[in-house]
Amino acid sequence: MEKTLSLIKPDATSKQVMGKIIARFEQEGLSVVAMKMLRLSKERAAEFYAIHSHLPFFGELVSFMSSGPIIALVLQGADGVKRNREIMGATDPKKAEEGSLRKLYGTNVGENAVHGSDSLENAKKEIAFFFDLSEIYA
Ligand code: CMP
Repeated sequence: MEKTLSLIKPDATSKQVMGKIIARFEQEGLSVVAMKMLRLSKERAAEFYAIHSHLPFFGELVSFMSSGPIIALVLQGADGVKRNREIMGATDPKKAEEGSLRKLYGTNVGENAVHGSDSLENAKKEIAFFFDLSEIYA
């Protein structure tokens, strides 16, 4: 069993597909063990994505991620980090696998509906960024 962090991004919350995305995680055998809706400040978005701060799209990414509400979720399941990434699909919705969340609900490479931790080590850090231990029901 692994825990991983998922974010439902502002494009997906504004398209009103958050329920569909959460239902999909559950259908695929990932359990939601923590969840909150919030809006990131520019500063907090920049902190979350600090690893990308040298990239040309960083400013755009921070503006977008602070542009509206997001849902932060902790998902738990067998091989959870990898499973979540398979369900999300490739970063660019145009290149994402048919039926993946980014193919179904993403807008473009920058506004791609969902984020998911890319390793178990990063999952631990990203979960701690959004949640206290007492908010995780597992
Ligand atoms: P995410 O999985 O949240 O991690 C970093 C994000 O940067 C990524 O999803 C995309 O939303 C964004 N991103 C990656 N490549 C580009 C790009 N070429 N232009 C704009 N945004 C990008």
